[in-house]
Amino acid sequence: MKIYLAPMEGLADFYLRKLIARTGGYDLVVTEFLRVVDQLLPVHVFYRNAPELHNKGRTDDSTPVRLQLLGNQPEALALNAQRAIELGSQGVALNFGCPSKTVNKSKGGAVLLNEPETLYQVVKAVKNAVPAGHITSAKMRLGFNDNNLMVECADAIVQAGADELTIHARTKAQGYVPPAYWHLVGEFRARIPIPVIINGEIWNNGDAHRALAQSKCDHLMLGRGAIRQPWLAKQIKNNRDDIESWPIMLLLVHEFWVLVRVQMGEKYCAGRLKQWLHYLKEIYPEANLLFIDIRRLTDLEAITSRLEKELNN
Ligand SMILES: Cc1cc2nc3c(=O)[nH]c(=O)nc-3n(C[C@H](O)[C@H](O)[C@H](O)COP(=O)(O)O)c2cc1C
Repeated sequence: MKIYLAPMEGLADFYLRKLIARTGGYDLVVTEFLRVVDQLLPVHVFYRNAPELHNKGRTDDSTPVRLQLLGNQPEALALNAQRAIELGSQGVALNFGCPSKTVNKSKGGAVLLNEPETLYQVVKAVKNAVPAGHITSAKMRLGFNDNNLMVECADAIVQAGADELTIHARTKAQGYVPPAYWHLVGEFRARIPIPVIINGEIWNNGDAHRALAQSKCDHLMLGRGAIRQPWLAKQIKNNRDDIESWPIMLLLVHEFWVLVRVQMGEKYCAGRLKQWLHYLKEIYPEANLLFIDIRRLTDLEAITSRLEKELNN
């Protein structure tokens, strides 16, 4: 079984990808989407999206990193896919799932699930542009407003030559509201002759095994579950339900804070820490107390002191 860390724009950035991948069990991490309109993007944009390209497309602990592209223009996407590979991306991922209104309005992300023919043209162009031996993967939802076209969309992606397909088992209209409809993927999994990776609402080891069984898939992609509990991939691979202790989790949080303070600039770092704690507090009561204490703080030294107090507890 392979486990991928999901692309999450504004959440699974370079810093979190680095720390989460290091907990082990992840076979691949996918970057936040890079939006392509009608031309080849400058090289610095690729490096900004995926600083791991400076490290041959791998995280510090050597987990492969795949750049995700979003757009609807086959030629432009093909050029950018080629460039991503030249720069070291471990394959190219295509986004057919983004629910953002702005993105959908400009015909990117989930709205393309209304047009299986466009999916076909995009995947085909990218597949043809990506050198042999490199993976072209796609990530789709079950549809836009409903799932009437889910099989056509999956077929189009496969017929265009995709090597892997990830399915977030909800429509765009269903947003992020539970449940995820893993069993619907199970209904057509048999007709897809490439690896299918199931995604959506996998928060613990039990969910993971239920998702695999119901979807009849062999592989998983973890999104918010991995943000809440970075060791989730390892737990699933070891078929264990225990969670990592707060003191160990806190070391990771502290390392994150040190990293973002230095690298990200004053304006954003406090927000990023609060955002992560917001996820962690679902699992760790200590993270909740920490979150409450720093929620209104903007002074970075005050946040650092509170974190250090927690570390010395
Ligand atoms: C904050 C956030 C940002 C996301 N950004 C992306 C993205 O850039 N590309 C993408 O394909 N999916 C994106 N997604 C969707 C996730 O990859 C994943 O499909 C979704 O969260 C369902 O999985 P989960 O229930 O395990 O979180 C995003 C999700 C969240 C919560």
